[in-house]
Amino acid sequence: MQFLLVTFVLHCATADYFKTKPDFVKTCSKSDPEFDDCSREAVQNIFNALGPGLPEIDMAPLDPLKIPKIRILQGDGPVNVNAALDDVTVTGFGRTEVLVSQIEGTYDLKGKILLIPLVGRGVCWFEPRNMTIDILSEVKLYSKDDITFFNVTSAHVKYNIGGLRLRMNNLFDGIESLEESTNAYLNANWRPVSESLRPILSKTIEDILLGFMQKLFNNLPGHFLIGDLKPLQSKKQDTTKKV
Ligand SMILES: *[C@@H]1O[C@H](CO)[C@@H](O)[C@H](O)[C@H]1NC(C)=O
Ligand SMILES: *[C@@H]1O[C@H](CO)[C@@H](O)[C@H](O)[C@H]1NC(C)=O
Repeated sequence: MQFLLVTFVLHCATADYFKTKPDFVKTCSKSDPEFDDCSREAVQNIFNALGPGLPEIDMAPLDPLKIPKIRILQGDGPVNVNAALDDVTVTGFGRTEVLVSQIEGTYDLKGKILLIPLVGRGVCWFEPRNMTIDILSEVKLYSKDDITFFNVTSAHVKYNIGGLRLRMNNLFDGIESLEESTNAYLNANWRPVSESLRPILSKTIEDILLGFMQKLFNNLPGHFLIGDLKPLQSKKQDTTKKV
């Protein structure tokens, strides 16, 4: 059983949608035999543009991404965690080379990871290496002012990481020898640690990306993305973000 809540500052859609095609949007055509390559490049361009943010449509930067609070409650399995992360900053989201390079914030944790009881609160950081994320999103079409837009209704994320370094300061209320040995143990066992955090991390990334994609696509007429878009048919889209 797991439960997760990401509190997230996304302004409501007060800004107007793009009336002309912005430079960062590459238009692809379904009828083009190179459609897959084209759309891969289009997605990368969009991520690059989301990095610094799009003030025209009131979108905050994706890199660095600020999240006020992530609450994690996970009841069974090797990870048994009741934790909150506050003032989280994620850097590297959206770059070509590395998708997420660092996550830092303050934590408040009571639980068990790899059968080790953990308790503490303090500053923490996580550094995934060579992280790749595959995003499968479902979109529906809808029309606004007689223009067809995409409604992103869900996002499913699969990710792989080549390594993970992490640090939790002030574990066990600052009993230094325990703090050092536990951090060393978690780093040495980064793979099972990251596997046990997978459901939590996937859900967090899904919620973040879904919020960003919904906001972007609600403000971007569909034909800017797909030149030969046929109005109002449902479709599935598989977007692979390779880094
Ligand atoms: C987008 O899809 C969701 C879920 O299917 C729906 O509740 C919402 O009304 C849709 N939004 C628009 C603008 O069509
Ligand atoms: C990351 O990927 C690069 C290139 O594929 C590789 O050389 C490097 O060893 C990898 N690093 C880790 C930590 O897996």
